[in-house]
Amino acid sequence: MSDPTDVTYAYLKHPITGETCVYPGGFEQKHLDSALQYKAKPTDIFVCSAPKCGTTWLHNIVWLIIHEGEKINGSMMDSIPMLEFCGSEFADNIDDSKYPRIVKNHYKYDWVSKHPTAKYLYITRNPKDAMVSYYYHCKGFDLYQCPDLDFSKMFDRYVKSDIEFWGYFDHVADWYERRHEENILFLLYEDLKVDPKGEILKIAKFLGNKYYESLMKENEKLLQEVIEKSSFSSMKVVSAEIMAIKRPESLPFIRKGEVGDWKNHLCPEQSKIMEDLIKEKGGPSGWSSLWDNYDNVWRNN
Ligand code: A3P
Repeated sequence: MSDPTDVTYAYLKHPITGETCVYPGGFEQKHLDSALQYKAKPTDIFVCSAPKCGTTWLHNIVWLIIHEGEKINGSMMDSIPMLEFCGSEFADNIDDSKYPRIVKNHYKYDWVSKHPTAKYLYITRNPKDAMVSYYYHCKGFDLYQCPDLDFSKMFDRYVKSDIEFWGYFDHVADWYERRHEENILFLLYEDLKVDPKGEILKIAKFLGNKYYESLMKENEKLLQEVIEKSSFSSMKVVSAEIMAIKRPESLPFIRKGEVGDWKNHLCPEQSKIMEDLIKEKGGPSGWSSLWDNYDNVWRNN
């Protein structure tokens, strides 16, 4: 019998190295084995992240840019496969003859298939807000079997990286180190919140000049459409329709979408633990300075 105040995970193993990879409960070895067989195609666009850092937002932006403002029709998971869950066969079957395939995943850098012309977008978010978001994420999905999830238990797991997909801290470090590689674009959730227009243009430019140019045509018509259709309010309206796995109405997937919601959840001691961890883990490679311009990531007032 699982404990409703704590998450249930599945502990899977890399078939060659034997390394453990933590998945939400209910997943099986066959899911990991299949996902690892996926081979990147020349036009693929990978959207990568640690959980709850704005993955859905980013892949929706990418979708809107490449589909000239056309919204996703039907379930999001059918159009944008989440590789670790859907597996390689499913991803391969997505038609990429007209538009590039978008592949979402939470794997670390080495586990993501590479092709020299494929594009890799990575998004991160301050870990205080990502942790709070992850708490609600788990509480609302049956997979984790924790409708009464205890916030402190989840906090302790999060800071020990005892959660799915290697946890937050090493994940960010792994991708941050490669941020200057030509086919990697490293993005911040907080930057997207503050300057959606600038960040959307940056994303379009990275995807290809033709996308950038079509956003700018006719007095930025398409750009305005992408901004509008990827806004929090627009995504909140459509999210229930396009989510393949249902959640209770009180725990929506597109939940609050704010920078600084951690202040409503973390006590001063927990906030300090996070800050010390950011400095310890992010100091050597420099990712700890990612939020230097964001006061509400660091301060309580
Ligand atoms: P909150 O739980 O803090 O609201 P992911 O897609 O990686 O699982 O991340 C989910 C988080 O991104 C949730 O954060 C969700 O509300 C937020 N999000 C999704 N779409 C967004 C948007 N258009 N604007 C701002 N935040 C968004």
